[in-house]
Amino acid sequence: MSADLVIKNGWVVTPQETFKGGVAIKDEKFVAIGTDDTLPQSKEEIDARGKHILPGLIDGHVHFREPGIGYKEDFTTGSTAAVCGGITMVMDMPNVVPPTADADKVREKIKIAEGKFLCDYAFYGVVVQTNADHILPMKEAGVIGYKIFFGETIGNLPFPDDGMCLEAFSNIGKSQLPLGIHAENRQIMAYYTNKLKSEGKNDPVYWEASRPDICEAESVHHAIFFAELFNTKLHVYHMSSKQAAWMVRDAKAKGLRVTAETGPHYLLREPKDMEKVGPLLKMNPPVRTKDHAEVLWDGLLNGYVDSIATDHSPHTLEEKGCDINGKLTKPAIWDCISGFCGVETGVPLILTEVNKGRMTLNHYVKVASENPAKVWQIYPKKGAIRLGSDGDITIVDMDKEGVIDVNNLHSKNKPSPWHGWKVKGIPVYTIVRGHVQMREGQPVGKPIGKHLRPLV
Ligand code: DOR
Ligand code: ZN
Repeated sequence: MSADLVIKNGWVVTPQETFKGGVAIKDEKFVAIGTDDTLPQSKEEIDARGKHILPGLIDGHVHFREPGIGYKEDFTTGSTAAVCGGITMVMDMPNVVPPTADADKVREKIKIAEGKFLCDYAFYGVVVQTNADHILPMKEAGVIGYKIFFGETIGNLPFPDDGMCLEAFSNIGKSQLPLGIHAENRQIMAYYTNKLKSEGKNDPVYWEASRPDICEAESVHHAIFFAELFNTKLHVYHMSSKQAAWMVRDAKAKGLRVTAETGPHYLLREPKDMEKVGPLLKMNPPVRTKDHAEVLWDGLLNGYVDSIATDHSPHTLEEKGCDINGKLTKPAIWDCISGFCGVETGVPLILTEVNKGRMTLNHYVKVASENPAKVWQIYPKKGAIRLGSDGDITIVDMDKEGVIDVNNLHSKNKPSPWHGWKVKGIPVYTIVRGHVQMREGQPVGKPIGKHLRPLV
C-alpha cells in the first residue's frame, strides 16, 4: 500500500500515551499509526523530528459571521485564521443575519459555506421564542446542536421564556442533539448595569461587576433543572464562574448529560486586566477573578469541565470602541461591543501552560480534540488518531517561542486582548483529512473544508 501522506519521526500524542513514530493517511483517513518502521510508503512525507503529532484540534465555538455580517469576519478569513492557529475543525454560531433559526436558514448557510472553508466545520441552530416547531427540522437540515442565548448579547436574539423553554427543551431532548446555552440572567445584569451607570462607574474595569458570577450561576442552575426534566443533553458554553463549574460537576455526578467548555481568557485573564487593554477584553460573560480560573483549571484536569473553546468573535475597532491598544474611543464601556478574536491564539496560549506543567500534553488533546468531538457527537470520526478516523493532525513544536502580534492574525478584524503575550509551544502544521492547510504559520491549502453532521 502507498499512502497519500506520511508524518513520521515525531511524538504521537493521544489522551492515553505518547510514543515515537507517526501516522499514514490515505483517502483522507488514517491507515497506519505506529513506529516509523511500520509506516507505509507515501507520495508525500513530513519529517516531524522533535515535534508532537496531535489529533486535529477542534474549536467548538466560533463566530464566523456569515451570512449577513461578513464585514466582521467571513468563512474564508475565519477558517484561514483557524488553520493558522492549529485548528482542523470549528463549530460556528447562529447569531448571524438572518439568524440560523429554521431548516431553510440551515440549508442556506451550508450552501453559502461551500468552497470557502480551509478547515472542516459544523453549524449550530438557534432557539428563540417562536421556533419550537423548527427544532427537529433543523436537525434534519444538518445542525450539530442548538443554542439558546439566555440574557441579552450580540445579535439581540429574543430568548425563549420559561413556558416556551418547556417545549424547546422537550423537542431538543427528542432530537438527541445537545443544547448549548449562553448562560446569563438578564434581570441580574440589567440591575447591576443600571446601578453602576447611576454611580458614574463607566470605566472598562467595571464590566465584570455588571454581570457578576451569580448571573451565570443562576442561569446554569435554571437550565439544568429543565434539562433534567426533559432528558436534554445540556452544554454550558464559555463557562466563566466557579459556581457554574460546581453545578456542572454535581449534575455529572448525578448522572445527567451535562457538559461544559471554558476558554483561554477565563483561564488566564482577570477583570483588572481591563485597566490596560480596555474593551479589547470585553466579552460576555466577562473574565473573572483568579479564584474562578483556579476552579476552571481544576475542572479541566478532573473532568467536570470538558473542553476548551475560544468564542472567537471578531468586531471592527470602531464597534469595539477603542484603538488597537485598547484605549477607549467611546464615552463608556457600555458603548463598546463584546467579543474578540481567539481562534488563532488559543492553541499557543494553552500550550504555553502545558510547557509550564499546568496540564500534560495528553490531557490537552483530550480537552481540545477528543472531548469536543464527543460532546458534539462526531467522535471517533473526529477527535482521534485511530485507524479509519479522518486524517486530521495538528503538529506542534513545544520548544518554539514567539510573541503574539495581532497585526499578524489572519482574521478580517483583528482586535484581540492578547497582543504582546509571550508563548512557548506553537502549531507548525495543520492537516485536514490529509490536506496540508498550514505550514509554519502560513495558510498553504485550498478551501477543501467539509460540512459535518452529527453521527446520531
Ligand atoms: O461577547 C460575546 N460576543 N459573547 C457572545 O456570546 C457573542 C459574541 C459575539 O457574537 O460577538
Ligand atoms: Zn460565542
